[in-house]
Amino acid sequence: MSRKILVTSALPYANGSIHLGHLVEYIQTDIWVRFQKMQGNECHYVCADDTHGTPIMLRAEKEGITPEQLISRVWQEHYDDFTAFHVQFDNYGSTNSNETKEYAQGIYRKLKEAGLIEVRSIEQFYDPVKNMFLPDRFIKGECPKCHAKDQYGDNCEACGAAYAPTDLIEPFSAVSGAKPELRNSDHYFFKLSDKRCQEFLRQWTKSDTLQTEASNKMQEWLGAEGENKLSDWDISRDAPYFGFEIPDAPGKYFYVWLDAPVGYMGSFRQLCGKSDLNFDDYWKQGSDAELYHFIGKDILYFHALFWPAMLQHAGFRTPTKLFAHGFLTVNGEKMSKSRGTFITARSYADHIKNTEYLRYYYASKLNGTMEDLDLNLEDFVAKVNSDLIGKYINIASRCAGFITKRFQGVLADLNSESAMQCIGFEIGLTSAFESQSKAIAQGYEQRDYSRALREIMWFADKANVFVNDKKPWELAKQEGKDYELHLVCSMALILFKQLTAMLKPVLPKLAAEVESFLNIAPLAWDDITSKLPAGHVINEYKHLATRLDPKLIEAMVAANQESLKPMTESHSETRHAEHQQHAIAPIAETISIDDFMKVDLRVARIANAEHVEGAEKLLKLTLDIGEAQPRTVFAGIKSAYDPEKLKGRMTVMVANLAPRKMKFGLSEGMVLAASGETPGLFILSPDSGAQPGMRIK
Ligand code: 2FM
Ligand code: ZN
Repeated sequence: MSRKILVTSALPYANGSIHLGHLVEYIQTDIWVRFQKMQGNECHYVCADDTHGTPIMLRAEKEGITPEQLISRVWQEHYDDFTAFHVQFDNYGSTNSNETKEYAQGIYRKLKEAGLIEVRSIEQFYDPVKNMFLPDRFIKGECPKCHAKDQYGDNCEACGAAYAPTDLIEPFSAVSGAKPELRNSDHYFFKLSDKRCQEFLRQWTKSDTLQTEASNKMQEWLGAEGENKLSDWDISRDAPYFGFEIPDAPGKYFYVWLDAPVGYMGSFRQLCGKSDLNFDDYWKQGSDAELYHFIGKDILYFHALFWPAMLQHAGFRTPTKLFAHGFLTVNGEKMSKSRGTFITARSYADHIKNTEYLRYYYASKLNGTMEDLDLNLEDFVAKVNSDLIGKYINIASRCAGFITKRFQGVLADLNSESAMQCIGFEIGLTSAFESQSKAIAQGYEQRDYSRALREIMWFADKANVFVNDKKPWELAKQEGKDYELHLVCSMALILFKQLTAMLKPVLPKLAAEVESFLNIAPLAWDDITSKLPAGHVINEYKHLATRLDPKLIEAMVAANQESLKPMTESHSETRHAEHQQHAIAPIAETISIDDFMKVDLRVARIANAEHVEGAEKLLKLTLDIGEAQPRTVFAGIKSAYDPEKLKGRMTVMVANLAPRKMKFGLSEGMVLAASGETPGLFILSPDSGAQPGMRIK
């Protein structure tokens, strides 16, 4: 029986571009949806732009446009990016829609009727110049713990301390620079601490709706039985705010996170408007449809606590399951603008063109858990070229031409005993296809795409062994081998068709091209085990895909390397507060104190410094850090320093960096030097009194 399934991906914020990190989720969801559709299930995939909140309001103001103009432009950009990566929504809406507004206000009214809304006066920073209350991220000042300047209102990026904005020393508004004042205002709270919410969530989070890791996290947030750990949730923001007004509360708006998930409903409602789907069938309490939210692990809190509690107490069904995934790393590290690995969807599409390569790579690594996924760029090239091109495309490219040129595009009759005998085809392969297709389906269903692809590549290997053994290119040259050539190539194309059906959720565009080349109807899941009838006529084979050239990756990374680009105004504006005097390179991602402590920095005395023959940029330094033997370090500071002047100077070195073999010898560490947009290179010096070997922390 066909299942009724509604699927969502998290709604991307309308104040930034889609990047490769976002795509982990959209590609993962899209593959799952396409698989369900191929299985014949009634599956709908909706999403929308998440458009409300202060950052969007302020950005629009800065650009001199209305928030509506801003979100409509970004909507188109997001939509185009998703389309480029073949992420196919049944509806892609916006939270700034009548439908979302209606459901958000409806849910609020129901919560109020149930006595789950409370109004409380709270004290908050107010910008007297801008005439607005300031969200924590828009207040800056000096960290109360480490006294670092220019820190955000919620936590310090220098020492990691978390605090309230009121703890900041000399706070200022990041919007106008003004000194903020503390003012009182009435805020609306959703009473999550209410016994009904606690009891419901305790039972809901244990009801197989969450992955084990997520469920454990929830138990931690909820605390032990009888413990009341959840605090009420502040769902209102004061005007001016870009969002929906709260009914009967003039000047009060829903906080963006209140209406964001309601956007799932709003978008589905739009889909109902353009089809014969019934909204209540999917959303009414007691609905027999399945509802799945694909999300990043960072927004589990919203989806596993606030969202189900809202739905439950407003008379709607709750999600069947939440599928949380991990973050993307590139080459084992967080995406970074300075390394050029913060790659937007647009940049990938412009440089690499073939977006299905990324779909394939992500699929080969996704396993349905909350683990992070690493895009290793070298491995990416290797996998695409060896699996997709080497094992899959090659089957068709080596056999199709013979069918067209020698047999007028007509496939041979493979059904006879004699045919099978003639090509010596191992019948087990086709029956293995049948039994193993179940394992592949299971892999897709459980979002363990890596397993599905491993099984698929096993078949591709078998098919290649068959082609390699039969060598159609040699048969083609031999007298009297036409019949065998015809059979072998026909069989190979059937295997290719079966492989295409298996890969179709991952490679939808390629599959469509294969369908047209093979002259067949769109492949469904059952086609994994079906053959092609004798006498079937195929179309001429045209190149389906080419090898991925590593140079394209290099060019993409270089183009994304921000520190190489001249600073643009908008860039320095978005990265830094209005107080910035001059442009600086973007600040790297926040690290923990533990991360920092991994770097062992020592005071070093430069015992010797000399030129290196043949080296354009390097000086050879001998550094004393109090060890038995001094260290040799090659430093790229020749342009700025005369070696004679360095001798005897104190500086700072990284003492635990893995030794690096260089053309001129082994470098056993690194000295630190400052550089910026303006010319010059400046090595560091400790204050007088510091001794070689002292640790810097
Ligand atoms: O984290 C985000 O980017 C949010 N815009 C996700 C919202 S998901 C859903 F709740 F709408
Ligand atoms: Zn601090």
